[in-house]
Amino acid sequence: MVAGNIMGIVGGSAELNTGARIPLIGLGTAAITQNEEEIIAAVTAALQVGYRHFDTARLYRSEHALGKALNSAFQSGLVSREDVFVTTKLKNTEHDDPVAAIKDSLMNMQLEYVDLFLIHWPIKLRAEIPLAPVKEEDFLPLDIKSTWQAMEQCMEMGLTKAIGVSNFSSKKIEDLLNYAKIPPAVDQVEMHPQWQQKKLRDYCNKHSIHVSAWSPLGAPNTPWGSNEVIDNPLILEIAQKHGKTRAQVILRWGIEQGVSVLPKSYNTGRITENFQIFDWSLTPDDHDMISKLEQRKLLRGDNFVNSTTSPYKTVEELWDGEI
Ligand SMILES: NC(=O)c1ccc[n+]([C@@H]2O[C@H](COP(=O)([O-])OP(=O)(O)OC[C@H]3O[C@@H](n4cnc5c(N)ncnc54)[C@H](OP(=O)(O)O)[C@@H]3O)[C@@H](O)[C@H]2O)c1
Repeated sequence: MVAGNIMGIVGGSAELNTGARIPLIGLGTAAITQNEEEIIAAVTAALQVGYRHFDTARLYRSEHALGKALNSAFQSGLVSREDVFVTTKLKNTEHDDPVAAIKDSLMNMQLEYVDLFLIHWPIKLRAEIPLAPVKEEDFLPLDIKSTWQAMEQCMEMGLTKAIGVSNFSSKKIEDLLNYAKIPPAVDQVEMHPQWQQKKLRDYCNKHSIHVSAWSPLGAPNTPWGSNEVIDNPLILEIAQKHGKTRAQVILRWGIEQGVSVLPKSYNTGRITENFQIFDWSLTPDDHDMISKLEQRKLLRGDNFVNSTTSPYKTVEELWDGEI
């Protein structure tokens, strides 16, 4: 059973502090090599399978294709706009003007609003280099308060139904809550059985902030992730016991922990497989064994620290010790 005591989780969705519901599984769309046709095909396949939640970001270069796929699904009557939950994120280079950024996203996606707009990282940069090392001269002084005020403006203007953060520690959220007129609805962070984020999730639960899990499978076969989560022998053992795949066990574990999971796949078979997690459950023993797995964060953010220009001299400072 999905944990019923965690922030109003019912069936396949959870309630946000705005009153809206967020589907517990969303398709991740971070596209490194894929072209527009591949993204459109994946989103269309996901809609047909039943996904109603799509995670993009200005950084991913998937907004345009996602918007195209969604708009053709609206036109064909497969789904209506109200049926889908779309998240996008402010780039590290756009903290000065979130209103202009979200307007550009909406134009890219041909949508009138998004359901959730997140500050992608607590980092402000001059130039965006997604996977290459960020240079010292690229960092700009960070002023999260003014960024958040502009995020609030985006919501007040009706450009997004909810606002939130990504890659924020409990401490960074606590600082933000001191001045926020609108509290964040979501913190989207790395989370999987080998990086369970217990402290952050307890904190978010207490403050009615929903947690979404990025790299929920540990990002196998990507430059930033590892196969160690999906290849973990305990996960294989549990999968064999239930007659499920390892990915299904990992994703089911995520939703039973009360978070929404955002697996990325551009393969129709795996998109379908990842969605089949709602009609069975893990046992308390499974949870107990998974809770004892050794913890290791995969994407530590070393790119975002330096001793001169970054607001964070070490990765410990970036995560306020939550690493
Ligand atoms: N906020 C942030 O800072 C942040 C950071 C990272 C990611 N994200 C979001 O989270 C999403 C997911 O994260 P992610 O892509 O890093 O990691 P992930 O979803 O854990 O893993 C994606 C990888 O798993 C493979 N895969 C998917 N389903 C599988 C299955 N059933 N069996 C075996 N392999 C499977 C995919 O390959 P195929 O495509 O070939 O299936 C891909 O190589 C992203 O797309 C993005 O939307 C957000």
